[in-house]
Amino acid sequence: MVYPIVKYGNPVLEKKAQTITEFDTPELSKLIDDMFESMYAAKGVGLAAPQIGISKRIAVIDTSLGEHEEDKIVLINPEIIHTEGKQNGEEGCLSLPGFREDVRRPLRVTVRTQDARGKTFETTGEELLARAFLHETDHLNGRLYISYISTLKRDLIKRKIRRLVKQGEW
Ligand code: NI
Repeated sequence: MVYPIVKYGNPVLEKKAQTITEFDTPELSKLIDDMFESMYAAKGVGLAAPQIGISKRIAVIDTSLGEHEEDKIVLINPEIIHTEGKQNGEEGCLSLPGFREDVRRPLRVTVRTQDARGKTFETTGEELLARAFLHETDHLNGRLYISYISTLKRDLIKRKIRRLVKQGEW
């Protein structure tokens, strides 16, 4: 099932999501399938559960946009445990459609996370994948990428969004 994506302004996006405690259930499998389906439908490389209105600590990532099965990653209760280096690049978010900004992030990131069965593992990503680990883990902590840009740029985005809301286009 494809969920509509929650847009900036909805408080669920700025709330700390709840830890997942039940694993290996049909409900969790269904949620994971629905999250991948919703992410592909929206043409994103990552999606966190709060973005479909579910305040739980789970996110899906696929930097191949559905091209390679082995690139599908599910993060449950993820924690960033190591970062190194720096990268500059444009970042966007399905909850802020139409906007992209340069965001400086670490180049290499290691995340400790659980899988659908509750097994804990660590995985390291670089470049786009590192960015996705950080961006999606931030979502679960109620943080959006626009918190990393200048106040001036952020206010401009907020102003544009207010206008879109008034026009019924957000
Ligand atoms: Ni996002």
